[in-house]
Amino acid sequence: MELSDITNDISEVLFTEAQIHDRIAEIAREIERDYPDGDVLLVGVLKGAVIVMADLARELKFHAHIDFMAVSSYGASTQSSGVVKINKDLDTEVAGKKVLLIEDIMDSGLTLSWLVNNMESRGAASVEVCAMFRKPEAVKIPVSVKYVGFDIPPAFVVGYGLDYAEKYRNVRGLGVLAPHVYGGADPHA
Ligand code: IMP
Ligand code: MG
Repeated sequence: MELSDITNDISEVLFTEAQIHDRIAEIAREIERDYPDGDVLLVGVLKGAVIVMADLARELKFHAHIDFMAVSSYGASTQSSGVVKINKDLDTEVAGKKVLLIEDIMDSGLTLSWLVNNMESRGAASVEVCAMFRKPEAVKIPVSVKYVGFDIPPAFVVGYGLDYAEKYRNVRGLGVLAPHVYGGADPHA
């Protein structure tokens, strides 16, 4: 299926690629102000954060150091606590470094709260969070997010790195997935 055929799968476009890029430029200026010497390790959470990492890192005016982790979380959508498993760890030693976690979306907050604790337990000098999208009404575990792209309603969204069943990640903007696509099932599963 071609990507151009997805118009029926998206019930509403929340942000265009241009709107997202404008916001990323604003966030990049804040990060440059907060880390004036560029002394920060950007840690992206695979796979969803690949797109925001690519755009944010290229927007920064310092030499951005980037690394990635892959995790899977269980029970994120229905429980207030859950299990997070590392599927791919960082290549970089975190001890003593200023870490900035880069996430596509903060939903329940389970993944990010676990990652913040994990970076702190490795001896990071500081840990901050940048989430491109956040669903404030869905948050179950509060996490202090220093840089937020956009707050959105608690609908299931796709595009800009976010998937449903590994599809739609390469859609350029962010849209609400039409309910007929997942037909009553929990799309977070
Ligand atoms: P949390 O641990 O509940 O905050 O979930 C974070 C992860 O769940 C994100 O990194 C996404 O992979 C996934 N997720 C949460 N909400 C959505 C959504 O609306 N669309 C696509 N993926 C989502
Ligand atoms: Mg996913």
